[in-house]
Amino acid sequence: MSGTSLDGVDAALVDLGGRASVLGSEFLPYPKSLKATLLALHEPRKDELHRAALAGIELSELYARAVDRLLKKQGVSPQTVCAIGCHGQTVRHRPGSGYSLQLGNPAWLAERTHITVVADFRSRDIAAGGEGAPLVPAFHAAFFRDSRRHRVIVNLGGIANLTNLPAIGSVTGFDTGPGNVLLDAWAREKFGRDFDRGGALAARGRPVAVLLKGLLADPYFRRSPPKSTGRDHFDLRWLRRSGAGRHKPEDVQATLAELTACSIGEAIAKSCPGAEEVYLCGGGVRNTDLVKRIARALAGISVASTERLGIHPDWVEATAFAWLAQRALKHETGSLPEVTGARGARVLGAIYPA
Ligand SMILES: Nc1ncnc2c1ncn2[C@@H]1O[C@H](COP(=O)(O)OP(=O)(O)O)[C@@H](O)[C@H]1O
Ligand SMILES: [Mg+2]
Repeated sequence: MSGTSLDGVDAALVDLGGRASVLGSEFLPYPKSLKATLLALHEPRKDELHRAALAGIELSELYARAVDRLLKKQGVSPQTVCAIGCHGQTVRHRPGSGYSLQLGNPAWLAERTHITVVADFRSRDIAAGGEGAPLVPAFHAAFFRDSRRHRVIVNLGGIANLTNLPAIGSVTGFDTGPGNVLLDAWAREKFGRDFDRGGALAARGRPVAVLLKGLLADPYFRRSPPKSTGRDHFDLRWLRRSGAGRHKPEDVQATLAELTACSIGEAIAKSCPGAEEVYLCGGGVRNTDLVKRIARALAGISVASTERLGIHPDWVEATAFAWLAQRALKHETGSLPEVTGARGARVLGAIYPA
């Protein structure tokens, strides 16, 4: 898995025999140059097809290295691995125009690893009229649902998404808006850091009420699901338009943390009435300040990490794509039309045999 945060590659070795169990894991950060290349590819510029193809190969080299390292560490031979589920790196998410584009070269990855690769998970759902995102709710429903307790799973990636798992009734889910993406961008621009470690910068500041109100006025937050978003929408330009530059940098950092927390809180209040337990996953779980704010925004609901449900928060997304790959190989559907808005459930992904 390599998500919107552009932090790097999460590789998980997953046994899907019974419950999904993570046997081992490996994280490879993106080299600075690759991150810059990928960021630049988020916008239309000269010769982008060529640059995108090269970036896809470089990504696949990194994916292959992550797989090699993980298998060596675990003492597992490639022949015993059924498949790699490879999400790729999103550079444009435009379901409204009929596509979502993930870079990565699955043929290259299959050739380098000698393992079957399943990739391009989003296109089929979009072709069927869906958002192509989020795709993890089907996994959350299969492994985290409880027949007595109303649970909600919240993934704090670059973009945050939630899955509503009522004890009975249908599963829903959508992107709530920014997770870490603005926190990271502001920390980089004002403090020269890749991210706000532990949320220490935000904890030093105080949220600016008027700025927060202005940011929360974005129509995306009011839109009813199905909905999905990306860096295309929530970026520094979006933030600058709200006049963030007029305030103290640490106060803006605190406001952005509050924005993530409030938008999640409001989404749960509106779309998950009666929720009893919220479980968090994704890199944002390491942001102690953010987690405190989320817990405050969810007063009365118990908040914990997915570790309590048996999967460490760092590896939930990667595990979900291993499961989606397995679904594809078995020709079983991986999407939930009630989440993505597609005409029906579809088998997701393209298969590149070993
Ligand atoms: N120690 C930490 N303190 C605060 N934030 C962190 C920490 N570790 C990771 N993060 C945040 O998590 C992000 C990565 O989360 P991840 O779940 O991989 O998101 P994505 O799926 O978008 O790549 C980082 O960009 C950063 O914002
Ligand atoms: Mg990541």
